[in-house]
Amino acid sequence: MKLIIRLGLASAMLAVAPAWLVVAHAQETTAVRGMAATCANCHGTDGRSAGSVPGLAGTDKGYFVQQMQDFKAGKRSATIMHQLAKGFSDAQIEQLAVYFAAQKK
Ligand code: HEC
Repeated sequence: MKLIIRLGLASAMLAVAPAWLVVAHAQETTAVRGMAATCANCHGTDGRSAGSVPGLAGTDKGYFVQQMQDFKAGKRSATIMHQLAKGFSDAQIEQLAVYFAAQKK
């Protein structure tokens, strides 16, 4: 009897797990979109720049992360990005890099 209850519980938990994963993923995606939206004023919607600021869409992930880290550390001189980059954690920079690399130029 106990075994049957345990099995029932285990399968109920398995059925619930994917739903949680989907919710967590959706929240993460929304958070990254929100962060990326703050870049749009200068870098264009989804990083497709229409002006003189360099576009971010389709930027190589490794290059993106390196530039952000260099801005943060003051290794790359900048007019504005050195200040902005300081507001993001390494994990957030990583997420932004993945997001922009996936955008079409
Ligand atoms: C106020 C305008 C502005 C905003 C907002 C802004 N940027 Fe920038 N970004 C610039 C400018 C200007 C440059 C060129 C370097 C400089 O002068 O700071 C640049 C350069 C960059 C570069 C280097 C591009 C290359 O090709 O070398 C990256 C990466 C970058 N920005 C990422 C971001 C991200 C991510 C955000 C949003 C979190 C963001 N920027 C928001 C103005 C902006």
